[in-house]
Amino acid sequence: MLLDQNELNELTLLIKKQFGLDLSDYAKSSLQRRFHHLCVLNGLTSKLQLFEFIKKQSSKNSLVEKITVSTTEMFRDPSFWTFLREDILKTLGEKEHVTIWHSACSSGEEIVSMAILLQETGLADKTKLLGTDINACLLKKAEKATYAERKLILYKNNYSKASGKENFDAYFELDEQKQFTFKEDLLKNTGFSVFDLVHNQSTMKFDMILCRNVLIYFNADLQSRVLQKLCNCLNPGGFLALGKNESILKSKPYSRLIPYQPVENIYRVY
Ligand SMILES: C[S@@+](CC[C@H](N)C(=O)[O-])C[C@H]1O[C@@H](n2cnc3c(N)ncnc32)[C@H](O)[C@@H]1O
Repeated sequence: MLLDQNELNELTLLIKKQFGLDLSDYAKSSLQRRFHHLCVLNGLTSKLQLFEFIKKQSSKNSLVEKITVSTTEMFRDPSFWTFLREDILKTLGEKEHVTIWHSACSSGEEIVSMAILLQETGLADKTKLLGTDINACLLKKAEKATYAERKLILYKNNYSKASGKENFDAYFELDEQKQFTFKEDLLKNTGFSVFDLVHNQSTMKFDMILCRNVLIYFNADLQSRVLQKLCNCLNPGGFLALGKNESILKSKPYSRLIPYQPVENIYRVY
């Protein structure tokens, strides 16, 4: 069941009023897909059933979980991580202290990947990482850094493709519940907090911000506003990494954002 524009407006208004979650500038096609997915998953066959289902949600968090896409993996797009290792971390390594913000970190696989690279490049002790996301449940998972064993083959493969040369197995411990947990030491300089890219504003400054695979869910206006906010949080010379397939900057250039590695969608602020 695909909602038309009027039905979408009605539903986003309801969600804003009842839960304080503002989806009005999320991309229409992506919202349509998410609501359709919700209907299929929960056997909802009419608009009325969908509206009732939404109204019954216990909290904003439970709704956020159902509507947003949280797909992630370690060393996602391995060539991006190779470039970080071979280029950006060398530049950042010249600084006395380094700060990196993962602005939509989902369940933390992106942060653990960064923590591993920092350890392997000798930057771990002088780098502070911040992981934020709109979804509080995902952040709890990120803090634990515990993942299902079935994901291990993919993550190990990605690590190798991302020029990882160490023994990946040494970074985690497997338990009897078929889960693997990364060693606490890796995330010792990492903080987590809920942050909504649409409504929150940060006054902190970072040397690198990752905002990968989230802007695609926003419309062009919201993408511009979020990009502007992120630019304001970068130190001069700081790097901004978007998802590999996010092409938003092609249509709307930002004067302070200079393409640094176009294939990997990395920009630099001067
Ligand atoms: C597809 S995941 C991407 C995760 C990771 N960055 C990656 O590339 O693998 C998108 C993430 O964006 C988060 N998200 C969606 N809307 C958000 C918002 N308004 N503010 C912050 N995070 C948001 C979701 O909760 C989800 O964790």
